[in-house]
Amino acid sequence: MKLETSNKFKKLLFILFLISVKCSDASALQPNIIFILADDLGFNDVSFHGSSQIFTPNLDALAFSGIILNRYYVTPICTPSRSALMTGKYPIHTGMQHAVLYGAEPRGLPLHEKLLPEYLRALGYSNHIVGKWHLGSYKRVYTPLMRGFDSHVGPWTGHHDYFDHYAMEKGMTGLDMRRGFDVAYDLHGRYTTDVITDEAVNIINNRNTSQPLFLYVAHTAVHSSNPYSPLPAPDATVAGINNIEDYNRRKFAAMLQHLDFSVGEIVEALAQAKILSNSIIVFSTDNGGPAAGFNLNAASNFPLRGVKNTLWEGGLRGAGFIWSPHLNSREIISEQMIHISDWLPTLYHAAGGDASILRDIDGINMWDVLSENLQSPRSEILHNIDNIWGSSAITIDKWKLVVGTNYNGQWDGWYGPEGDRNVSSYFINDLLTCKTARALKSIQMLPTTHKVLKLRNEATVTCSQKDVNTCNPLTKPCLFDILNDPCESSNLADKFPNIVKTLTERLLDFNASSIAPGNLPIDERGNPIFFDHTWTNFGDFI
Ligand SMILES: *[C@@H]1O[C@H](CO)[C@@H](O)[C@H](O)[C@H]1NC(C)=O
Ligand SMILES: *[C@@H]1O[C@H](CO)[C@@H](O)[C@H](O)[C@H]1NC(C)=O
Ligand SMILES: *[C@@H]1O[C@H](CO)[C@@H](O)[C@H](O)[C@H]1NC(C)=O
Repeated sequence: MKLETSNKFKKLLFILFLISVKCSDASALQPNIIFILADDLGFNDVSFHGSSQIFTPNLDALAFSGIILNRYYVTPICTPSRSALMTGKYPIHTGMQHAVLYGAEPRGLPLHEKLLPEYLRALGYSNHIVGKWHLGSYKRVYTPLMRGFDSHVGPWTGHHDYFDHYAMEKGMTGLDMRRGFDVAYDLHGRYTTDVITDEAVNIINNRNTSQPLFLYVAHTAVHSSNPYSPLPAPDATVAGINNIEDYNRRKFAAMLQHLDFSVGEIVEALAQAKILSNSIIVFSTDNGGPAAGFNLNAASNFPLRGVKNTLWEGGLRGAGFIWSPHLNSREIISEQMIHISDWLPTLYHAAGGDASILRDIDGINMWDVLSENLQSPRSEILHNIDNIWGSSAITIDKWKLVVGTNYNGQWDGWYGPEGDRNVSSYFINDLLTCKTARALKSIQMLPTTHKVLKLRNEATVTCSQKDVNTCNPLTKPCLFDILNDPCESSNLADKFPNIVKTLTERLLDFNASSIAPGNLPIDERGNPIFFDHTWTNFGDFI
């Protein structure tokens, strides 16, 4: 009798406990997710990868206290990478595998695709995007507010001027800065990166505290702008940089500094709102850096080969990290193979969803793997198959196969700058006192000087081999041992014909599952001259 009562009492307590869990503040249970996407940032542009040429203290402080993803892969170019992030699928499976989307192109990311914010909305999240969309604006239904986001401030197309917000492409010019569906005329003249920062901070400060937050900060930096001013940066910031001779690189550094300030402001806002310790922050580039004048830009992927929009490591191996107090292993360098399509299931899981219900995606839930520092279940990454340009690449285990190349091989080399690898140039004291470091200190997550220097050394890629035997993927596929030769200098295709055969067959499997690229010819009716010189959802008006 007594025993029975106590069991009943326990049962009752348990039910009360369940009710209290269910009724309590949702945001106290589900983490806030801040995804910061840089545009066209190279592997060697951030100072956490070993070069002190451009000092990025706020990014570094987060990176070193979280997990630096050192074998993290993105796709070679903007639209495909964003499509993979939003859908969890390889671009060959959404028709987004070829080139970028243009403002006057009558297409968008297919509407039957369910996007990351839509998945998170179902889990109770409020979703906000500040910055660049670039997944279609042909019709209103393709734009952020119709695809899972509650608010948007930023451009719809691929790039614009950071001050006047005009975008030139395909011989057309128009204003591209939106607040929701409206044109944000009031932001004229305000530096885009700073606009993005202020909006992000406002969203954090004015959030609905009974909902968890998904904030997608999609910087336009450090993408180049229009030919009349390819690398726009506030003059005072440029003037403050005195260690870089090359004027373009110096302006690039100034653009990146504003992005780094932005990270500091966002982390500080999260700390002041007392939600930093219940946040996940992911930082990623969308593709490798346009170096040496590619796209009129001055990024660096050194010592990796190639540039943006090539299938070499310089186009694919992304600068990225994940930070969260919810990760059990932190202050480490991850060598786990991770792909940009993995964020959707990973973040869905972290948000409290059951990632096993996500069917037909290519991404893999990496949360436990990262949190517990386990071996990555991912042994393969399809980098892309582009049957229009005739290029494709795949990595399986340590082997990478490159078939064909873009630009007729003109961007297949190695480009600088190497930067400054002298450890004593690294401003460790400034790093440990920047805004992000102060916020981290407030939650006891600031790594020690010793740890920072050790991790930075581990995160630096060095290559000893120099073009041992040349390869020309236009004539014959090239094979690399990417684990031991990350710089792709030694072509092993002749030495391991069976491995070439295995990887080629796998590429053919993928090719068989791909859908046709969705690209369409430019529609002159989308020209901004017909819409008060503004890029718009012209498909709704024709
Ligand atoms: C805040 O979120 C809660 C929970 O989803 C919702 O009921 C409420 O209406 C929201 N408040 C506002 C002002 O949107
Ligand atoms: C690194 O910088 C320090 C301080 O400026 C200088 O003394 C030293 O010679 C440099 N080392 C190398 C290898 O350039
Ligand atoms: C993929 O299949 C298409 C259509 O059958 C073909 O034209 C193309 O060459 C194939 N690409 C590769 C990389 O095998």
